[in-house]
Amino acid sequence: MFYVFPDTNSLAQYLAEQLYQRISSQPNIRLGLATGSTMEPVYAQLLRMNQQQHLNLEQIITFNLDEYVGLEPSHPQSYSFYMQQQLFSGLGLNSSQVNLPCGMTANLAAECVEYSNKIKSAGGLDFQLLGIGTNGHIGFNEPGTSFDSRTHVVELSENTRLDNGRFFSDMAEVPTHAITMGILDILEAKEVVLVATGAHKAQVMADLFHSAIDEQMPASALKTHKNLRIYVDPQAASLIPSAALQAI
Ligand code: F6R
Repeated sequence: MFYVFPDTNSLAQYLAEQLYQRISSQPNIRLGLATGSTMEPVYAQLLRMNQQQHLNLEQIITFNLDEYVGLEPSHPQSYSFYMQQQLFSGLGLNSSQVNLPCGMTANLAAECVEYSNKIKSAGGLDFQLLGIGTNGHIGFNEPGTSFDSRTHVVELSENTRLDNGRFFSDMAEVPTHAITMGILDILEAKEVVLVATGAHKAQVMADLFHSAIDEQMPASALKTHKNLRIYVDPQAASLIPSAALQAI
């Protein structure tokens, strides 16, 4: 389940190749996408590959995991903005192909129900890409979130606000709430790849490795998934027993 790569670059290259192949063998793929620092080299590699040989991207549909409440899509720290910058505009995807929860709507509860339903009516997710928070969150499903959850509004934990504060000039600007796909939405994806890179993820990956399936460790829900792979670089893997790691 845990695959360790020689370094962060080779992990990003391998995962981007996997995404490239999935898209070329299934042009109407439904992709679940994540934002965050972990994904930046993966998306950069995917863009590079697509520049060398163009994929047929007319039928691809993407669903992002989450979005902050209260940030316009044009806000440089919104996940909508991140995705445009890191992936969508480079791939030339149009707005009808990409989906993020809208954190600016007056009726957030209705937006949440609609988002989970949209995923279902698109046929569900074929491939879900995930990062992990230092507290074990996936999407913005913070510790204690029900494993039966659908898309919902979440109050961000202090830990997550501090982690993400690095992208904002002032902690007071870091949103307090977000919309996230629920854990059940994530578990329904046919295939899931969780990625963790860097020494700051070593502890949470060891905790995940040792954890029972427990709502206090949101990522442990993935241990029930039949098609899960966890990709780590040597730094993130450093506290996991080496016998449990498969080298790539
Ligand atoms: C982002 C998301 C989060 C991040 C996680 C790790 O869309 O859903 O769960 O994947 O917070 O973030 P980075 O990659 O910045 O360490």
